[in-house]
Amino acid sequence: MTNIHYDNKHYELAENQSVLECLIKQGVPVPSSCRSGVCQTCLMQATAGTPPPSSQNGLKESLRLQNYFLACVCQPTEDLEITMPDDRHISAHATIRKLELLTDEIMLVELECASPINYRAGQFINLVHDSSHVRSYSIASVPRLDKHIQLHVRRLPHGRVSGWIHDELSFGQRVEMRGPAGDCFYVSGKPEQALLLIGTGSGLAPLYGILRDALDQGHQGPVRLFHGSRDLHGLYLMEELRELESRFPNFTYHPCLSGSEVPDGFAAGRVHEAALAETPQLKGWRIFLCGHPEMVKMARKKAFLAGASLQDIHADAFNVSHV
Ligand SMILES: Cc1cc2nc3c(=O)[nH]c(=O)nc-3n(C[C@H](O)[C@H](O)[C@H](O)COP(=O)(O)OP(=O)(O)OC[C@H]3O[C@@H](n4cnc5c(N)ncnc54)[C@H](O)[C@@H]3O)c2cc1C
Ligand code: FES
Repeated sequence: MTNIHYDNKHYELAENQSVLECLIKQGVPVPSSCRSGVCQTCLMQATAGTPPPSSQNGLKESLRLQNYFLACVCQPTEDLEITMPDDRHISAHATIRKLELLTDEIMLVELECASPINYRAGQFINLVHDSSHVRSYSIASVPRLDKHIQLHVRRLPHGRVSGWIHDELSFGQRVEMRGPAGDCFYVSGKPEQALLLIGTGSGLAPLYGILRDALDQGHQGPVRLFHGSRDLHGLYLMEELRELESRFPNFTYHPCLSGSEVPDGFAAGRVHEAALAETPQLKGWRIFLCGHPEMVKMARKKAFLAGASLQDIHADAFNVSHV
């Protein structure tokens, strides 16, 4: 039986229990989101004892060396003394340079970092609100094409951080951010490979970045982007995507509507089903799936069954946070 010591209290871990599960069960508020070692919202630090290497996957080397770990996937084999991360070591500051509604619900947020950060289009950063609310937002910008980091933030009803972003942030305000992190991005090296990008809602953010990154790097294979929403109000950047379509003959854009009204020129039904109907054989394709967790889960399964190799399927499910 292993124990964790946190904030002057001892907690005993049950068998197969993660540090996060144990603390939350005991009523300790630890931020979390994906609960699968992806979003890094549940970052903690061991001040005594060594966290298992598997709980440090995806962390920067500097954080690993300081014994930071992800509480949601940490099942320690020895006793640990742990603490919340020290913001001074892991956070950076950025200034809001633009806030613009892309749809009624989705806001374009542009951030200028106090010191430049290295990132890839499609990765995500974590925004910190009131010290304790940490949320991931995917990056729509491409470092060599765009001056500032761009995010697309969808307002959720009563959402703490998305509500703060939509209602309270203003031009010139400083915000705290962490990251970047994540491995959902374009890697050059196979310019002939076919790419299929499927997203719902603000899941277009990483896909828009990945798409422009790939085209700008001279990707030659076919590139198909399917963006889904219930109705027309939920689709955005249509003009920009049509413009890319006219500039790059290998790129096609497929807006898709799952509601009852589907004008000509739009695919009907759920976006991953429309994409799979258009492209039933996916052997050799590289696939990017972003947005609603249920869509990502179903699309991953269907893409695999259609012949895509698991290592060619990159995904970010926009799981909502738990506190
Ligand atoms: C890797 C990753 C990338 C992401 N990228 C993006 C992105 O690019 N764009 C984007 O818009 N989102 C993205 N997300 C989702 C984002 O991180 C947040 O989860 C989202 O913005 C909601 O946060 P919030 O604080 O506004 O809502 P929260 O306050 O966390 O609430 C979430 C939902 O739960 C409900 N809720 C809250 N408290 C209660 C309660 N007590 N009882 C019942 N219901 C409750 C709220 O109404 C809301 O609908 C991403 C997530 C991940 C994991
Ligand atoms: S990495 Fe732990 S909640 Fe996402």
